[in-house]
Amino acid sequence: MLREITLLCAIIGPLTVIGQSNVSSVEWWRDTFIYQIYPRSFKDSNGDGVGDLNGITSKLEHLADIKISALWISPIYVSPMVDFGYDIANFTNIDPIFGTLDDFTKLTTKAKSLGLRVLLDFVPNHSSDKHPCGFQGSAWEWNAQRNQYYLHQFAVGQPDLNYRNKLVQDEMMNAMKFWLNRGVDGFRLDATTHLIEDSRFLDEPVIPNTGLPPTDPGTLDHIYTRDQPELYDLIKSWRDLLDAHGGEKKIMLTEAYASLENTMKYFKYGSNAPMNFMFMGEVTNKSTSIDFKRTIDRWMNNIPEGNYIPNWVVGNHDNHRVAFRLGIKRADQLSMLAGVLPGIGIIYNGDEIGMEDLNLTYAQTVDPAGCNAGPNRYYLYSRDPERTPFQWDDTLSAGFSTSNVTWLPVNPNYKTLNLAAQKTSNVSHYAIFKKLVALKSQPIMRNGTTQLILVGNNVLGVVRRLPGVNPVVLLINFSNAPSIVDAASWMNVPAELTVYVASVGSQIMPGQRRNLNDIYLPGAASVILN
Ligand code: GLC
Ligand code: CA
Repeated sequence: MLREITLLCAIIGPLTVIGQSNVSSVEWWRDTFIYQIYPRSFKDSNGDGVGDLNGITSKLEHLADIKISALWISPIYVSPMVDFGYDIANFTNIDPIFGTLDDFTKLTTKAKSLGLRVLLDFVPNHSSDKHPCGFQGSAWEWNAQRNQYYLHQFAVGQPDLNYRNKLVQDEMMNAMKFWLNRGVDGFRLDATTHLIEDSRFLDEPVIPNTGLPPTDPGTLDHIYTRDQPELYDLIKSWRDLLDAHGGEKKIMLTEAYASLENTMKYFKYGSNAPMNFMFMGEVTNKSTSIDFKRTIDRWMNNIPEGNYIPNWVVGNHDNHRVAFRLGIKRADQLSMLAGVLPGIGIIYNGDEIGMEDLNLTYAQTVDPAGCNAGPNRYYLYSRDPERTPFQWDDTLSAGFSTSNVTWLPVNPNYKTLNLAAQKTSNVSHYAIFKKLVALKSQPIMRNGTTQLILVGNNVLGVVRRLPGVNPVVLLINFSNAPSIVDAASWMNVPAELTVYVASVGSQIMPGQRRNLNDIYLPGAASVILN
């Protein structure tokens, strides 16, 4: 019934930006954008140079303005901060650096009043043991207090929890319930690949000739510690917990850097979004239109039969920013794809304004993955470059903090690259992203068909069609030189359409009519027409 109403609302002609529809009370996340907040870097409210909950609360209008459906906040629990919150000492309280439980309530209350849902990053697998940084070395560490060895699969300070112990399972369920009772709308589950280990404690086989230092985890074939069959039952038990909670349906996102086959398994056990990292791991700025088509097709074609929703991760706190990975001229390309392809787009704070990586010296490096790699290799592993403070405006510390010393330095480009500046301009990453979010809520995105078409040698076309309305057409030029293509014939779309939005730097203005028989696309440009 609801679907029919949306269809009836469709009008022939170019899209007008309308507010996000409230149609899907069942799966509210379908065809929306979810926004990741890295709390240390979003907004500092008390001048200590580290972002916090009150800071997030003070900036929720930004997210309401973009009309994302939900924000997920990287860990805010009590932590020695060896891995900046992914090492947890108390799963049911807030670390003082971020604030208090009352601050959290203020955040969720305001978020709800603005129509925003709040998701927490749930880290089911690591507790904490204060220890100098280190991801590498033996996976077993002696703990003198307990007189026992413990397993760690990331930093030494992140002891692995033993899910073969029922008490551990129960305790973590209680922690999840604690947050559900405080009004959270779902969880992003961290590092689920590593949840459970083979019960025999066998050594893992060495992979010959990796060229890696012998202590690097990449030298072992992790057949006994990753993707173990029992982990999916845990996922299912958490799905059941979420479903039992009542109220609006709760979302579960799962983070598993796993094979495509193993990633897709999560759908069947109740994950709504087994995070699709293909845009971060499989494509680069050297990729061609064919590479992108293959990557996208492979994901779409491997989604199991049933009512499962694709998702597209544009960036996160563990990978270089999109403006670095694809280059500044292509900073909008992935969010434009995530906006036009069916399903959920997942964007990392700052990518909506095209924030760039900041290269740091070894002495400035604080990420354990970087500092442990040593002065010659730190930059290969450090995730600090993509974690610098959000650039709100051109005032001190980019408006992030009243302090001029921040936990990671502010990127000096904030003077020109900041949200305030982009808000005053029609041609900005921010303006584009806002239109992409609005686009996703249109009936054609929800109900239309999807086709990927190679148009000429360098251009990828994505077309969404719904009977009775103009198609939505995305064209991406993979060449750095201009391309002129006959998109109308190759894609079987009308000869003339209106530009809905075009990438920054393309010089193509929204609202212009374009002839698709020989459309001119500047180098690296992406454009959406309708
Ligand atoms: C996840 C997090 C990452 C963290 C790791 C270990 O992959 O995204 O930031 O370092 O888990 O907890
Ligand atoms: Ca602070």
